[in-house]
Parts: sequence; C-alpha cells; structure tokens
Amino acid sequence: MSGKLQDRVVIVVGAGSVGPGWGNGKAAAALYARAGAKVLAVDIDPEAAAETAGIIAGEGGTAETFTADVTRTDRVRAMVDACLDRFGRIDVLHNNVGIVAHIPTVELSDAEWDRFHDINLKSMFLTCRAVLPAMERNEFRTDADGRKLGRGAIVNIASIAGIRWLGVPYIAYAVTKGGILPLTRTIAVEYAGRGIRANAILPGLMDTPMVVEPLKETYGGGDLAKMAEARDALCPTGYMGDGWDVGHAAVFLASDDARYITGAELVVDGGFTARAA
Ligand SMILES: NC(=O)c1ccc[n+]([C@@H]2O[C@H](COP(=O)([O-])OP(=O)(O)OC[C@H]3O[C@@H](n4cnc5c(N)ncnc54)[C@H](O)[C@@H]3O)[C@@H](O)[C@H]2O)c1
Repeated sequence: MSGKLQDRVVIVVGAGSVGPGWGNGKAAAALYARAGAKVLAVDIDPEAAAETAGIIAGEGGTAETFTADVTRTDRVRAMVDACLDRFGRIDVLHNNVGIVAHIPTVELSDAEWDRFHDINLKSMFLTCRAVLPAMERNEFRTDADGRKLGRGAIVNIASIAGIRWLGVPYIAYAVTKGGILPLTRTIAVEYAGRGIRANAILPGLMDTPMVVEPLKETYGGGDLAKMAEARDALCPTGYMGDGWDVGHAAVFLASDDARYITGAELVVDGGFTARAA
C-alpha cells in the first residue's frame, strides 16, 4: 500500500525527545515514516536521534540520523549535504526544535534572550534558507488530472504562546514562537509560485517530556501528577494533547492533501485559543 508521503524525503529537525516517551518531533518523525517517507532524523543529541530512527526501522520504515546543532550555519549546511548524499533529494523540512523556561521578564539575562532567539527562531531561518534551493531543484509534481501538486513543503512548529498569554511569564519563549509566524508567512508567499509551501503548527498544552523539567514548578509545585492535572484542567477538552496530535497535523500539511494550503497557522490546541480569555 502506498502512503500519503510515499518515497518523499523528510528532514525532521529535533527528531529526538528530551525525555522518555513521545515528544512532538519524535512522534512526527514516526508518522512521516508510517506515511511512506524516508526520514533524516536530526538532533543535537545523537542518542535521541538514534532512538527515533531505531523505532522507525523497527516498524519497517527508513530512517537515518544526523547530529547537528542547528543554531550553527555550517552544521545546517552539512545537514542538507548529508540528506542529499544519502537520499538524493529533500521534499519536506519539519522544524521542531524549541526550548521553554519560566523566566520573569526582569530576570531574563541578555545571554538567555539571545539563546532563545538562536535555538527557537534563528535555527528555523537557517534550515529554511539552506533547504529551499534543494527543494527548488525537485521536479514540479502533478496528479493524474494534471493538477499542480508542488515540489516541497516546510512545517514549522510554533506555539499558541506566540499569539496568547498562557499564564506563564516566558517572554523569550513567547516572542520567539511568535516570530516563527512571519518567518513562515514570508517564505510561503515568496515561494508560492515556485511550488514550495510553508505552514506553521501552533500546539497548545501538550503532554510531552519537553515541558516537564522547565515547567514542573510553575504548574505543580514540583509534583508531576499535580502538573498534569493542572494542565489538563486548563484545556477545554479536559485533557492535554500529545505529540501524535502535532504529528498528524504535520503529515497532513506536508502531504498533497494540503497542496493549496500555504502560509497557514494551524492551531492544535483542543479549543484553548478559541475559548474567550
Ligand atoms: N509540549 C508542549 O506543550 C508544546 C506546546 C507548544 C509548542 N511546543 C513546541 O514543540 C517543540 C518541541 O517538541 P518536543 O516535544 O519534540 O520537544 P523535545 O524537547 O522533547 O525534542 C526536541 C529535540 O530537539 C533537540 N534540540 C534542542 N536543541 C537543538 C539544537 N540546537 N539543534 C538540534 N537539535 C536540538 C533536543 O535534543 C530534542 O531531542 C518545540 O518547538 C516547542 O516549542 C511544545
């Protein structure tokens, strides 16, 4: 059976997970592979990338790993070269890397402000800039009826923290996540006529390992069960989303089903932002 992304080549940046279980990037990488894609699992932590690639291989999929700190231009260029060497092309770029911390505004140092910008925002600019020329070299695909399907797709993981106050003073997180939206929009319009789409996903409160250490004091006074309870209660659904919710949205946006969707900001938050504050 042929999947939605059969034989497409997907780079997942931040494909590992900072803790046990399923983060957004790890789940997305697994779902891309289940949709038939070949995945380059990129992470600053080689073991985290290897774990994700191992899961994909164990399910009969195709995945390779590449270690890179994507705040560095030379490593991002090397990542693109490695993908072209190993798979011959790049069809999808999925940017998942992001960090969060509860730091009140007047306590945030210059260095932390810069670090958040480098990791959460500059990394996405660097990867998009490096990947776009390779995508432009792909053939323009059409379906059986001659409808144009495009030749590349970018999925950037932002956050509803970029468009709303979520009750946590994390100015550097909110600002950098918000910055992903014009970054994505600009690329979307600049490349719309060239067959490359760019969309952002804005997850809400998701139950992933990433938030545990930085936010356990904020939500649960250090108690993980209380933290989960508090975060569940904040969601209109009564429960948080998870990495699979983000991953399914990403596979849709990367696939030809979304061929006319570009520059979109897809909120995946169980109604959090729809509810009046
Ligand atoms: N969990 C939530 O509630 C939530 C909500 C909104 C948005 N998000 C977004 O989801 C994304 C993270 O999701 P996750 O669950 O996969 O997180 P995660 O932290 O588990 O995984 C991210 C991976 O990125 C890697 N990484 C970090 N810095 C890197 C760098 N400089 N270069 C290369 N790799 C690097 C880490 O090693 C890690 O394996 C972030 O962009 C975050 O802002 C999460």
